[in-house]
Amino acid sequence: MLAAAGYQLAVVDRSIDAANQTLAGLVESHKAYLTDITQEAQVSHLFNAVEAELGPVDVLLNFAGVMITPPGGQRPSIVDASLEHWEQTFAVNARGSFLCLREMLRCRQRRPVEHGRIINVSSTAAQIGGYNGSAAYIASKGAILSLTKIAAREAAPMGITVNCIAPGAMDTPMLRAVMPVEADAAYVKNVPLGRVGNAQDVASAALFLASAEAGYITGSCIDVNGGMRMQ
Ligand SMILES: NC(=O)c1ccc[n+]([C@@H]2O[C@H](COP(=O)([O-])OP(=O)(O)OC[C@H]3O[C@@H](n4cnc5c(N)ncnc54)[C@H](O)[C@@H]3O)[C@@H](O)[C@H]2O)c1
Repeated sequence: MLAAAGYQLAVVDRSIDAANQTLAGLVESHKAYLTDITQEAQVSHLFNAVEAELGPVDVLLNFAGVMITPPGGQRPSIVDASLEHWEQTFAVNARGSFLCLREMLRCRQRRPVEHGRIINVSSTAAQIGGYNGSAAYIASKGAILSLTKIAAREAAPMGITVNCIAPGAMDTPMLRAVMPVEADAAYVKNVPLGRVGNAQDVASAALFLASAEAGYITGSCIDVNGGMRMQ
């Protein structure tokens, strides 16, 4: 959707196959980058490479995330959770989002752009205490909500807005690791719009937040959850 709207994309993933898959079918001006966002040096190298090859980053979509689940998809209880699980989850969802956001702000401090945008991804799980996600997942997504607000304050003088999207259940590989299609009927009983969401629903919100027209919105969170949770 962003490509169709005229954005040039740098698609970043720790799996180059996943990044290339995202770009499949698009014209060649976009580029895939292999980066593990938990690694400070890799994130710094990534931004250097993207800015040298494609130009200054106007819009950062901080979407990479993990929900680590044991085989079988059962949510580990807090009493059974390991510190390793907590650290691995926070490394991607909280630290990785922070590292990308910080690098974006550093780059834009050196070389401002007209409409800078940072769009983070939290989750309905962080707002309601979760469904199948672990405590580590839910708390790391809560960190994104707070990071969005402080970053919005700091980035405002640079003309950069910082917002987040809180999706409900979206039909992606992450969801399907913990929620089989057979469970959809029970889930959607609590969704006024009567269906599980999809990547396009989230992309639509991102496209709006990235636009110049969304320039007076910062520090906010857009719920994309079919009405499952209303403020
Ligand atoms: N699917 C849902 O129901 C749902 C709900 C709420 C929030 N979210 C959030 O939406 C975002 C996208 O999730 P998704 O459902 O598309 O998940 P997904 O698992 O389908 O995709 C996540 C991508 O992040 C990449 N990634 C993971 N760790 C990385 C790292 N260290 N460095 C670089 N890339 C890394 C993975 O390779 C993968 O391609 C995540 O932040 C997730 O927490 C998803």
